[in-house]
Amino acid sequence: MRKKMVAGNWKMYGNLLENKQLLAALVAELNGVREDVIVVCVPYVYLPSTQNELQNTTIAWGAQNVSQYEKGAYTGEISASMLSDFQCKYVIVGHSERRMLFGEDNDVVAEKYVAAQRAGITPILCVGETLEQREAKITEQVIEQQLMSVINVAGIESLSKAVIAYEPVWAIGTGKTASPEQAQEVHAFIRAGVAKQNLGVANQLIILYGGSVKANNAPQLFAMPDIDGGLIGGASLIASEFITICRASR
Ligand code: G3P
Repeated sequence: MRKKMVAGNWKMYGNLLENKQLLAALVAELNGVREDVIVVCVPYVYLPSTQNELQNTTIAWGAQNVSQYEKGAYTGEISASMLSDFQCKYVIVGHSERRMLFGEDNDVVAEKYVAAQRAGITPILCVGETLEQREAKITEQVIEQQLMSVINVAGIESLSKAVIAYEPVWAIGTGKTASPEQAQEVHAFIRAGVAKQNLGVANQLIILYGGSVKANNAPQLFAMPDIDGGLIGGASLIASEFITICRASR
C-alpha cells in the first residue's frame, strides 16, 4: 500500500520569523503522524533554521532546486551534497517555473534528478502540460517526453527512489484546479507508462498532484486511486490550510 504524501513548496515567499512561526504551527499539529509523509521545501537560505525546527520531528524538509553539477566554478549554484549537509531528504526538480522562467529543459532536469539521487536525496520530479498543449490534445505526449528524458538517463528502477508530481501548468497559482477526474486520468497514464517497464516500481511510485490544491478540494483529489497526495504552493504558506490538506491525505 503506497503512503500518502503532502509536500509544501514555499517558492520565494516568507521571511525567517514568519517561517519559524509557520513551522511551529505545523509541528504542533502534524508531528508524530507516521501514516503519511509530510515535507516542506523551503528557499535555500532557510534550510539551517528549518533543519533546526524540524530535526526532531517526523516532518521532513527539502529544497526547491539543485545544481546538476557536483562542484565547481558555478557562481550562485547549490549542489546536492550541500543540501545533504542540511539533511535535506527531498528536492523539487523540473518545476514548471524553473523550466519556463529559467530555461531548464528536459535534459537539464534529468541531470538534476541524477545529481539529487547521487547525494541520497529523493527528487520530486515535476511534469505537466501548458494550457495550449492540453487544448492541442498533446498532454500525454508532453508528459511522456518529460518522463522518458529522466528514465533514459537514470533508468526505470531509479523511480523507486523518486516521487513524481503532476502539475498542469494551467492550474498552478491560478485557482483553476484540475478536476479529480482530469488529474486521475494523467496520473493513471503516468503509472501505466512506468508499469510497462517495471510493474513493481509503478505500484509503489508516489505520484502527487499539484496545481491550486486547497483545503476544500484536497479530499476529492486525494480520494482518486492514482493520486497519492499533493505538491502544495500557496496553501502551504497558510498553516491552517496546509494542516487541513495534510489531514485530508489520510
Ligand atoms: O509546486 C507546487 C505549486 O506549483 C502549486 O502552486 O499555488 O497552485 O498550489 P499552487
